[in-house]
Amino acid sequence: MHAIDVIAKKRDGAELTQEEIEFFVQGYTKDEIPDYQAAAWLMALYLRGMSDRETLNLTMAMAHSGDMLDLKEIAPFVVDKHSTGGVGDKVSLVVAPLVAACGMPVAKMTGKGLGFTGGTVDKLESIPGYRTDLNEVEFKAQLEKIGIVLTGQSADLAPADGKMYGLRDVTATVESIPLIVSSIMSKKLAAGADAMVLDVKVGSGAFMKTVEQAEVLAEALVHLGDQAGRRVVALISDMSQPLGWAVGNALEVREAINTLHEGGPDDFRDHCLVVAAEMLILGDKAPDTNSALTLALDTLNSGAAWRKFKEMVEAQGGGARYIKDPDFLPQARLVEPVPAPRSGYLAGVDAAEVGMTVMALGGGREKKDDQIDHGVGVIVHYKVGDLVQKETPLFTVHANDEAKLAAARERLLAAHTFSDSPVQRLPLFYRRVADVGLEDETGNGD
Ligand code: URA
Repeated sequence: MHAIDVIAKKRDGAELTQEEIEFFVQGYTKDEIPDYQAAAWLMALYLRGMSDRETLNLTMAMAHSGDMLDLKEIAPFVVDKHSTGGVGDKVSLVVAPLVAACGMPVAKMTGKGLGFTGGTVDKLESIPGYRTDLNEVEFKAQLEKIGIVLTGQSADLAPADGKMYGLRDVTATVESIPLIVSSIMSKKLAAGADAMVLDVKVGSGAFMKTVEQAEVLAEALVHLGDQAGRRVVALISDMSQPLGWAVGNALEVREAINTLHEGGPDDFRDHCLVVAAEMLILGDKAPDTNSALTLALDTLNSGAAWRKFKEMVEAQGGGARYIKDPDFLPQARLVEPVPAPRSGYLAGVDAAEVGMTVMALGGGREKKDDQIDHGVGVIVHYKVGDLVQKETPLFTVHANDEAKLAAARERLLAAHTFSDSPVQRLPLFYRRVADVGLEDETGNGD
């Protein structure tokens, strides 16, 4: 088989066979097929689209391009969660210990942030000593011992995705539903997930800008899950304003800790409870949404989720004192509350602008190898629909550089828009997609 023939076949609109897809994925992973041919192939896939069968075959080929983690002996049924990426998205920091505290093992590999969307690994690394590079033996041993692991994505799992994603990023082929589906699902399958809750973000701070686009992605993810024999629930959630108040690594860890102590912002806590409830239902820990939500809320309020979080941090080398007293976490030198320029109802807090501002403060990476400043970030003090009084603090900037602070102040002021008349609050979730063709309205908003 020759790469050029597989490229030409797809270029001309024909359906590729399983063998052709495996040949290409394996060849590219082993460096036998060069970037320029893989780039042409990806563009052909992007432009011609892919059938359900091709998407499934691509997902499986990518999942099998490296190790397949088998956790069956330790955890017979693994439920994972994945977010498509957002601003202020610290959900895994609360949901993972919450679900684990309900008696369901959580073994989760998480990613770094790229661009203005944050990554759970970067947030966890703001806890001094916390290791995000556990190897397979350590991963399994910790899961067996305490029932929870939150670590970085292993390079040995779905290496084809790492290579292909990097190439898609620079060849304008990221925005393809079948390529996104195979990228996300291959990693989850390789990591041993039997079922998963996918948090599909929509809005300015997300990959999908409209609910319609997010629905297409959510349905494709659920459908692929069905084909692969995995139970998948996708929640389409708002990302047009930041989730919670805190955006920035250590600030988000602090907010997650507050939430584990029954504090934290209402929208963030409610979001975590809904995601946790879906995981509990998938893992047969609760029969329906109401009992799952009650179990999650009781577990949060009992302090068990906080204790599980602490156990995990200690097991992974993080100093307990940093999380018992989050004042010990990295902090920025300059902390400036910025007053509201006017009174009025808050009409918008542009999540993408907030995310990009935090990145410009040093809290994210512009290039893959950039160092992160864990202490910097932004606290927004209001949510869309709130009534704001002139001169009260609208947001607080945490910075380590005067010029960057000044730039952030202007940018964030412009990111907040006001209205003289009442503004409807944004829903937390737009839709739940559990079975393609059988979607329900979530009914969950705030
Ligand atoms: N997240 C992924 O993991 N892959 C994509 O292609 C897009 C978002």
